Amino acid sequence: AVATGDAGPMTGKRVTISAGGTREALDPVRFLGNRSSGKQGMALAEAALAQGAHVTLILAHAEVPPPAGCDVVRVDSALQLRDAVLDALPTTDVLVMAAAVADFRPAEMVATKIKKTDDGADPVITLVRNPDVLREAVVARASLPGPLVIAGFAAETGDSSADPITHARAKLARKGCDLLVLNVVGADLVFGEDSNEVTILSADGSEAAPVRGSKRVVADAVMEHVARLIAH
Ligand code: CTP
Ligand code: CA
Repeated sequence: AVATGDAGPMTGKRVTISAGGTREALDPVRFLGNRSSGKQGMALAEAALAQGAHVTLILAHAEVPPPAGCDVVRVDSALQLRDAVLDALPTTDVLVMAAAVADFRPAEMVATKIKKTDDGADPVITLVRNPDVLREAVVARASLPGPLVIAGFAAETGDSSADPITHARAKLARKGCDLLVLNVVGADLVFGEDSNEVTILSADGSEAAPVRGSKRVVADAVMEHVARLIAH
């Protein structure tokens, strides 16, 4: 690890981290959300700060506060998170997408509170796809002047078609980012836990040795990996 003040590869680099879970509004008082705690994103921010980076945290909903010393941009929904990430890109050297971005949002946000009806009919909520923010960032970088490292996260389970690493490799290729941090999940793992195990996959298809430990240990490993990409 590179201590603050040392002239390491992350010193003075501008790192943008998205963290927490988005909320997709149904009406003025209700939303569809997810169980992201935001802890991994906060740990990434701490790790980047410790390596001397300038950190912008694009923060959706989280159970923990952001670390002191980073710029915080608060967002609510996936669409807001997309706008904040794309705004930050021209002044960013490293983007880490740790946020749990909702894949879908209600097709319409009803302006007044949804009421039960007298006929007892069950309401139907139509969902539409949200933009893939990571993919859009990869596309946008093609027209940016400077270099930009882009990292994604994925939680995968194995299934009858493939194991978690195979799913993650396909996702990395689909997204076109530089590295993907794979969390292998079972039914009761990872969400809200204070530690986990990840495998860092690179765009060339290689995989680093698994990293096991606290979210901060994982975050340090991710930032060291990013630092090596920048140094090249
Ligand atoms: N992500 C994103 N925008 C979305 C969904 C996901 O930027 N609308 C980012 C996440 O922040 C993460 C990476 O993409 O860094 C992988 O997220 P994941 O949910 O695993 O990927 P999806 O493409 O949504 O695939 P799946 O259908 O497996 O959920
Ligand atoms: Ca998803």
